[in-house]
Order: sequence, then structure tokens, then C-alpha cells
Amino acid sequence: EELRDEQMRWALAGSLEAGDEPGRRAVVMTMGALHEGHLELVRRARAEAGPAGQVVVTIFVNPLQFGAGEDLEKYPRDLDGDVAKLAEVGADVVFAPTPDVVYPDGDPVVRVSAGRIGEVLEGASRPGHLDGVLTVVLKLMHLVRPDVALFGEKDAQQLLAVRRMVRDLEVSVEVVGVPTVREADGLALSSRNAYLSPEERERALALSRALRAGAAAADRGAAGVINDAREVLDGADGVVVDYLALVDPVTVDAVTDDFSGPALLLVAARVGSTRLIDNQAVEVS
Ligand code: PAJ
Repeated sequence: EELRDEQMRWALAGSLEAGDEPGRRAVVMTMGALHEGHLELVRRARAEAGPAGQVVVTIFVNPLQFGAGEDLEKYPRDLDGDVAKLAEVGADVVFAPTPDVVYPDGDPVVRVSAGRIGEVLEGASRPGHLDGVLTVVLKLMHLVRPDVALFGEKDAQQLLAVRRMVRDLEVSVEVVGVPTVREADGLALSSRNAYLSPEERERALALSRALRAGAAAADRGAAGVINDAREVLDGADGVVVDYLALVDPVTVDAVTDDFSGPALLLVAARVGSTRLIDNQAVEVS
């Protein structure tokens, strides 16, 4: 039986040379305007897929995850530039559908709910956002049929929600999280950084600085972490904090003052008219 299964895999793999690993299909889902953070996900996808596998990158600015008054229309778009970058990092297929391809019947009637995860932090500031993300992620998983899907830790609550969806709804995909790619000065790479003026970009450094200050206070407990991170943000000009929270990395519930163990420190803030998010894992003791 083992031999038959093995032969079946070989038959399905088709054009493979004897001795090759069959390889897997890996997907990286993006909204385009690709930067080094996205490209790191694609390189990691190449490694997960193997030389005989397939790396599929989707580029789709998903209207469902943008709220009224958000930046759907002005979201940066550069398909030609994106395709050129993807060719260099070993992507095999780029799937860049228009909204009418993804939503042929208009807005979907049946959607995925992120539940409680979709109602706190990002969910509280952007109602429906994570439901829109999960709905398109599940659709794209069904269209692409990947063995493995890669997501950035930069969007920690999104990664967590995707992991939870995959568990709760028995989606047969392996989810791999990839560490946040940062500029040398600490700023987390984001397509929205393109909106920042040079002065705003300087101010935006307060987010990563606050996270580092918080992490450095990990041995003073949860209250120490929040306190030191808050101090950095309070001292920063032109940074309007939306939330700063230390949460359980599975449930997203805020941790209590006597908590010890792995936690996630999350921040969201507006710099000028640009909303930025960042986060860092903290081992609280
Ligand atoms: P987008 O913001 O384009 O991000 C695509 C993927 O790149 C996400 O998994 C995100 O976490 C990851 N990413 C972005 N910046 C990163 C960085 N600095 N380091 C590491 N990874 C980074 O997230 C979305 O698109 C959408 O919500 C999507 C999942 C495509 C659904 O529409």
C-alpha cells in the first residue's frame, strides 16, 4: 500500500525526473506594491515548495477588507513592477485577478467570520476588516489549492486569524508565519510607508522604538512592558496612538498584570493621515 501511494504521488507529479522531490504548491497572497517584506515571503515559499514545486503569488486589492473612508482607491498599484520583482525571486505563477473575477456575483452573501478575533484591536478600529480578509483568503485558497500558505508576522492578528480559520474550518493547508522584515532603522516595511513624507517617516520610528522598549522591560512583568512602550509613544510628536496592547498570542485577549510567558505586544498609530501597525513577541517574566 505504501508503494502504491508512492507511485500515485509520482504519477501526479507528472513531468518529474527520477530522484526529484515531488515538491509542493506554495502560495503568497498580497495586495501588490511589493516590497522586500513580500519578497522575503516569496523566497521562503520557494524553499517550502522545493525546486520541483510551484510558487504562486496572488496580487489582489480586496475591496471586502476596506472600510468606508479607507484607502481602497488610493492604495498603491504597480503590477508591472511587481511582476518584474517576482520573476527575480523565483515565483512561478502570478495571479492578479480583477474584482469581477474574484467576486463574479458581486459581494459574497456567505462570508467567513473571524469571530472574537475580528472584534478586538484591528477589528475594533476596522470593523469587518478581518472578516473580509478571511473571506478572500479562503476563496484564494480554493482557487489556488496550495499545500502551504505563507503570511507575514507583520500583520500578527491577521496571521492569527488565518491560523484559527484553518483549524476551526478544517482547511487542509499548512500555514507558515514569516518574521517581519524591517528597514535598518527598525521601521517595519509596509506598502503604506509610501504615503509618508520624510518627516512622517522619522516620526513613524516611534512604533518600533516603543516595541523594543517594551520588550526590554519583559523582566518587569506585563505592566512594565506596557509602561515602557507607552512612555516612548507619549514622548513622540505627531503620533496618534490607536491602541497599544500586550495580548495572549493565541486568543488575542489582553494579558493580566500577573501574566508570565509568551505574549505579543501590538501597536497601531496614525502618523499624519497614514495608519501604521507593528508588533513584537515578548517573553514576559
Ligand atoms: P499585504 O498587506 O500586501 O501583505 C501581504 C503579505 O505580506 C501578508 O502576509 C503580510 O503580513 C506580509 N508582509 C507585509 N509586510 C511585511 C513585512 N514587513 N515583513 C514580513 N511580511 C510582511 O496582508 C495582506 O496584503 C492582505 O490582507 C491579504 C492577506 C493579501 C488578503 O487580502
